[in-house]
Amino acid sequence: MDERAAIDGSGAGSVISDWRRILDIMATRRSCRDFDGTEIDPEILLEIVRDGTEAPSSCNQQQWHFIIVTDREKMLRARDISGGNHHFAECSALVYLCFQKGWTHGNFSIVQSVAGACYHMMLSAHLRGFSCIWNAGIGDHDQLRDMLELPPIFELQGALAIGRSKPSAPPMKAPRRPFAEIHSLNRFERPGVTCYPARPAEAYPFFAIKNDDNPFAEWNPQAWSWGQIGDFRGYSVWAKSPLAGVYVSRRQGEATEAELSLLGALSAAAQVAEIMPWGGTYSVELRRRLAPGVTLHLAELSPHNLSFIEERLRQEDLPLDRVSLDVFADGTLPYANRSLDAVVLPQTLEHMPAPEAMLDEVGRVLKPGGQAIVSVRNRDSAYGRHWDAVESRAQVPNQGPFQPIEAGRVRGWLAARFRLDAEIGIGRDATHDAAIVEGEGRLGCRLYAARCIRD
Ligand SMILES: Cc1cc2nc3c(=O)[nH]c(=O)nc-3n(C[C@H](O)[C@H](O)[C@H](O)COP(=O)(O)O)c2cc1C
Repeated sequence: MDERAAIDGSGAGSVISDWRRILDIMATRRSCRDFDGTEIDPEILLEIVRDGTEAPSSCNQQQWHFIIVTDREKMLRARDISGGNHHFAECSALVYLCFQKGWTHGNFSIVQSVAGACYHMMLSAHLRGFSCIWNAGIGDHDQLRDMLELPPIFELQGALAIGRSKPSAPPMKAPRRPFAEIHSLNRFERPGVTCYPARPAEAYPFFAIKNDDNPFAEWNPQAWSWGQIGDFRGYSVWAKSPLAGVYVSRRQGEATEAELSLLGALSAAAQVAEIMPWGGTYSVELRRRLAPGVTLHLAELSPHNLSFIEERLRQEDLPLDRVSLDVFADGTLPYANRSLDAVVLPQTLEHMPAPEAMLDEVGRVLKPGGQAIVSVRNRDSAYGRHWDAVESRAQVPNQGPFQPIEAGRVRGWLAARFRLDAEIGIGRDATHDAAIVEGEGRLGCRLYAARCIRD
């Protein structure tokens, strides 16, 4: 029997006995950012793209156009233009998703149509045993236009990277929200923790919001609850894969080294905690530095951050036997009184709804003589001024809302609770440099960092 003809849409039932199995296989698709660089037969690539054109399109206009790039030089250029998407140079093909402008613009219907086709291609690639990833982050459109010789009446909306994943690529898919959270019947209903704060306004017109200019962005973590921050960060950390070296910005590099160098000597079996490690950039550096017998506790607000960091540590060839993955809620650390030898808070106080209460918590869980290593982005610096004028106008970043805090203020919070044992400023410029500054100037650097001892 012709199965296509027999699925008549009448609801009488499917003649495909294993339709559930097919859906389950489709659901195992996951994004790949670690391709092996091998080639795929050009005929198969064409079939995948042709499969995508079975998607519906607004007014059936099919105003889409797909440019399949397999030329290695162009793929290298595509990677450079994209900025961060190194997988553009390692996949087998990039399919640029384009459309002709001027028709079916309302409600983004042309964009919706191209999106449907792209997902259909992804399923086709997946069922054939390939990996892929959809990318909106393609970089500067003018440079791409030149490279692809795209006429002005056509627009670019993204690129689908198709290839074969490396055997060592992370084997898991980004977590999905519980279904109950993201649907409702007949009217809007959704748990408050999944609706994030925005600046109060009568309306939030879509076109008033841009990536780098969002007048409604609420960067003040005190306007967010711990639950909202945890919810946001736990999903957004999966915007990338838990690969080695992920989330290491140029700005951070040397600064991380300077911040962690404040950690003093520890006993061979010490207990160390890092608070709100998000994507684990400091966690991997800490694990690398700590003696094998030292336990590293990672305290996050969402288990999804912890599963990300666990795989990242694996990808970085770091041992997991003395890593403890601990969820905490509402600002209460999941540790007993006087149980830890060191607590590290690297650029996280400024992400918290209640930073002073957190420092009280740190005092509670530290053993007498234990160290708190604290660093914060300093409002009272060239970076703080840049944050005020530029950064804070944009959307809240994937790490969640934050506001730099004046170094002098943080110093006061620390001095009220601990003995200040060492203090430095890091970075005189707004970005990039990691000059270490001691003495008076330390309070005017991009980062203020201190080692504090609990008496
Ligand atoms: C419209 C769209 C744009 C995306 N852009 C990027 C991108 O520029 N870079 C990237 O690494 N991933 C990108 N992704 C991949 C998502 O991060 C990914 O689909 C998400 O984390 C869920 O993971 P999964 O695909 O493994 O289920 C994009 C996905 C979509 C749907």
